[in-house]
Amino acid sequence: MKDRFVVSGGARLQGAVKVSGAKNSVLKLMAAALLAEGTTTLTNCPEILDVPLMRDVLEGLGCEVEINGETVRITTPAELKPDADFEAVRQFRASVCVLGPLTSRCGRAVVALPGGDAIGSRPLDMHQSGLEKLGATTRISHGAVVAEADGLRGARISLDFPSVGATENILTAAVLAEGRTVLDNAAREPEIIDLCEMLNSMGARVDGAGTSTITIDGVDKLHPTEHRVVGDRIVAGTWAYAAAMTRGDVTVGGIAPRHLHLALEKLKVAGADVETFENGFRVRMAQRPLAVDYQTLPFPGFPTDLQPMAIGIAAVAEGMSVITENVFESRFRFVDEMLRLGANASVDGHHVVLHGIEQLSSTEVWSSDIRAGAGLVLAALVADGDTTIHDVHHIDRGYPHFVEHLQQLGATITRVS
Ligand code: UD1
Repeated sequence: MKDRFVVSGGARLQGAVKVSGAKNSVLKLMAAALLAEGTTTLTNCPEILDVPLMRDVLEGLGCEVEINGETVRITTPAELKPDADFEAVRQFRASVCVLGPLTSRCGRAVVALPGGDAIGSRPLDMHQSGLEKLGATTRISHGAVVAEADGLRGARISLDFPSVGATENILTAAVLAEGRTVLDNAAREPEIIDLCEMLNSMGARVDGAGTSTITIDGVDKLHPTEHRVVGDRIVAGTWAYAAAMTRGDVTVGGIAPRHLHLALEKLKVAGADVETFENGFRVRMAQRPLAVDYQTLPFPGFPTDLQPMAIGIAAVAEGMSVITENVFESRFRFVDEMLRLGANASVDGHHVVLHGIEQLSSTEVWSSDIRAGAGLVLAALVADGDTTIHDVHHIDRGYPHFVEHLQQLGATITRVS
C-alpha cells in the first residue's frame, strides 16, 4: 500500500530547520566514484529513497556501497561491469549519470532507458552527441543507450541548451580523455560546481565550473576522495516558500543563500522579509503575499523544481500572477490538482495564469512527481480543513524527513500507511 499524508491547514510555520545535501548532487557524485578504483566517501548525504536506489545501480556494476546515515562509502573495483541494463536502472531516471563514467572507464556503457516521466519528455540527444564529439559511438538499442569508444579524446563541444545531465555526463567522460575538452553553454547549477570540485579533489583538471565554459584537461587516472555534498537548494527553497505562504517565520540552515538568490528575491517582492547569513537565511511574512510573475530558466534563473511552489504561493496571493515554464513542457499537470484545491488557474501553452484567492479548499490530491508532491503539501497548509495527499512516495524520493521537519515547524501533518 502506498503512504499518504493528511495535512490540516491553518498553521503558521515557525522555527528553524536544516537542509542536508542535494539530491541532484549526491546521485551524480556517487556515479563519479566509478571513476577511481578504491573507496570514496561522501558526507552530508540526504536520507532519501533515491540514495539506496543509486546504491543498487552501483552494486550492479560491481561496487560495494555502504550507507550509514548521512555518510555513503563506495568501493569501486579495478574492473567495472559496463552493462547497466537491469531493473534498478530502468526504475530510476537519474541513473543515466553512470553513462559518462562507464564510457571513460570501460570504453563501453550500456545504460537502460527509464520509462516515461510525469514532467515531460527527456531525450538524451545532447548526452549522446557530447560523447560522440569525444570519439565515442552511441546508439539506442533494445531500450538502452549504448556508448562505445576506443579511447576518448578531448574536443570542443557546444550544447544547444545548458542541460544539467548532459554537462555532467560530458564532464565525467572528459576527465579521463586524452587532451583538452572545452564545453560551451555548459549548465551553471551549484550541483555542477559540486561535481567539479569533487572531480578535482580526485585529481581531475577541471576549470570554469559555474560559468558557461568549462575546460577539462584529461588525466590518466583518478584517485578516490572524501567529499561533502552541497546543501539542497530546492529543499531550502521549499521551506522558504512554505514560510511565506503560511505567513510564518522560518530560519533555514545548511544552504548558501546565493544558490537561491532569485527565488528569495521573488519572495521579497511578494512582501516577505528575507535575511541572509553565510550558511542560511530567514524568511518572515506578516501579511498575505502579493502576486509575482515567475519564469523558470536554467541557473541562475528561477529553478523549474520550485515552479510548483511558485504556483502555490501565487494561488493565494493578492492579484494576478503569470508563471512561465521554459524547461520541462509537461510540468503543468500539477495545476489540475491545484484546481481541485480551488485555485483560480488557467493554463495556456507554457504559461499558467493565476488569480489569487484568500484560501484554498481542502480535498484529496495526487502527487505526480517529487516537486509537485511537495507543492501540494504547501498548498494544503493554506487550505481550510484536512487535505489528503496521495502517492507521497514521490516526495520521499527527494525530501529527507519531510513530515518530521514540517511538524518541527508547527504544521499539522501525519503520514498514513
Ligand atoms: C536535472 C534535475 C532536475 C531539474 C533539471 C533542470 C537531476 C537528477 N535532475 O534534470 O531535478 O529539474 O536538471 O534543472 O539532477 N534535454 C534535451 N536533450 C538532452 C538533455 C536534456 O532535450 O540530451 C532537455 C530536457 O528534456 C529538458 C531540458 O533539456 O527539457 C533540461 O534538462 P536537463 O537540464 O538535462 O535536466 P536533467 O539533468 O534531466
